[in-house]
Amino acid sequence: APAEREQWTGQTGFILAAIGSAVGLGNIWRFPGVAYENGGGAFLIPYLIALLTAGIPILFLDYSVGHRFRGTAPLAYRRIHPRAELLGWFQILLSFVIAVYYAAVIAWAGSYFVFSFGLQWGDDPQGFFLGEYLQVGEPTISTTLVSAVALPLVLTWAVILIVLALGVAKGVEKANFIGLPLLVLAFLALVVRAITLPGATDGLDALFTPNWGALTDPEVWIAAYAQIFFSLSIAFGIMVTYSSYRKRKSNMTSPGLVVAFANSSFEVLAGIGVFSALGFLAHQQGVGIADIEGLTGPILSFVTFPAVISQMPGGSLFGALFFGCLVVAGFTSIISILQGVSGSVQEKFGLGIRQSAVTVSAICAVISIALFSTTSGLLALDTVDQWANNIGVVTSAILMTLLLVWVLRRGEELRFHLNAVSTFQIGRWWNFLIGVVGPVFLAYMLIQKVVSLLTDGYEGLPTWYLITFGWGTIAFVVVGAFLMTATPWGRLGQEPFRPWP
Ligand code: PHE
Ligand code: NA
Repeated sequence: APAEREQWTGQTGFILAAIGSAVGLGNIWRFPGVAYENGGGAFLIPYLIALLTAGIPILFLDYSVGHRFRGTAPLAYRRIHPRAELLGWFQILLSFVIAVYYAAVIAWAGSYFVFSFGLQWGDDPQGFFLGEYLQVGEPTISTTLVSAVALPLVLTWAVILIVLALGVAKGVEKANFIGLPLLVLAFLALVVRAITLPGATDGLDALFTPNWGALTDPEVWIAAYAQIFFSLSIAFGIMVTYSSYRKRKSNMTSPGLVVAFANSSFEVLAGIGVFSALGFLAHQQGVGIADIEGLTGPILSFVTFPAVISQMPGGSLFGALFFGCLVVAGFTSIISILQGVSGSVQEKFGLGIRQSAVTVSAICAVISIALFSTTSGLLALDTVDQWANNIGVVTSAILMTLLLVWVLRRGEELRFHLNAVSTFQIGRWWNFLIGVVGPVFLAYMLIQKVVSLLTDGYEGLPTWYLITFGWGTIAFVVVGAFLMTATPWGRLGQEPFRPWP
């Protein structure tokens, strides 16, 4: 008899795991900087619009595909139409790319958790991060391994392997059951501490003072949509995978709303905490927030934040809490990405849970270490991230909505499915959002972004470099998806399937 499909223990387990996936590095090291750079308080408008017009509707779409067709993305899409399997692999390979660099950031955060206790970055956090710790070199492809990064990275992959090998209920769900409450408590403590620091209000003013002019800038809207996609973990095949482990009769839409609002609340809270702390830094240095450099991305967390920590009474504890939060938030997200990859490999090749967990983690670990723990790791990471998120995921979302709504005409079927199992009923507006508003917006965004990357390049990096790490990432995902689709299926791919209800 075929093995039973793995399941969450119940609705709470699913909600915890889905929030754990959503709340990640994106909330803590992405959102505050993105919001600040894109109009501050005014950014909340495109952000909310993106959440309501694309984020939540596409989250529901992911759920409906996974829950109705009961498979990870490749299998679920294959059950809709044999050729649609390609989209499933496109999403899974994109997840794979994200996982290999996301792990590196978790490893850095792990190191910095330890460094916090001795304020090891000294008076020059920037020199320490880029020089002493990462040993950043020229934009080349370096083979010089940095052991201070490679070691925590190996550890990160080992823990991921264990969690995956324990399975959905005993591994992934348990990890979230432990991690998420810890994260919420530690994070609330951090935010309370941050807003009571002198100068905190200046930081909050800087973050929330709206620059209305930003609303007419298409880049701001692109940033809002990209943030929502990454942050909600949608269009990566991950939410398809997670919802496929729910029982057949399971409320889907209401948990989806809980997850979406929990994620956004966490994001705004992170903005408040981070900018309060930056206000404090400006106050200590007697400058304005605008004079502080490094308010985005890795530099914000690993250079600017350490500077804050050094200035604070009890900074070590604050630092340990902050980097501890990064580790836990990142970890509960990366296991969701890997569960998508590992689950797909299980289904495609008929492998067992452990076999697949070992294979996938080992391959990811090797690539992750080879690319991101060398002296060229930071630049590669930044470039891959830019392409995977602004080109890869957006393309995935466009293909997904167009395919399901217009080519295969499954919009109504999927809506009926969600309504048949859920308490929160969705109306025809949903079809309009996923079929028209979403794709139009996303296509516009994609074109803008492609043109800007082609004409202006990225961060002044040489063209060969952008071709290798930027466009190369996209080429890898596309070619990989074709190859995986062409590979013959194990047992599951042959079995007939009838959706229910
Ligand atoms: N949503 C996570 C975050 O905000 C990242 C993530 C992306 C997780 C894609 C899974 C899939 O950090
Ligand atoms: Na998020």
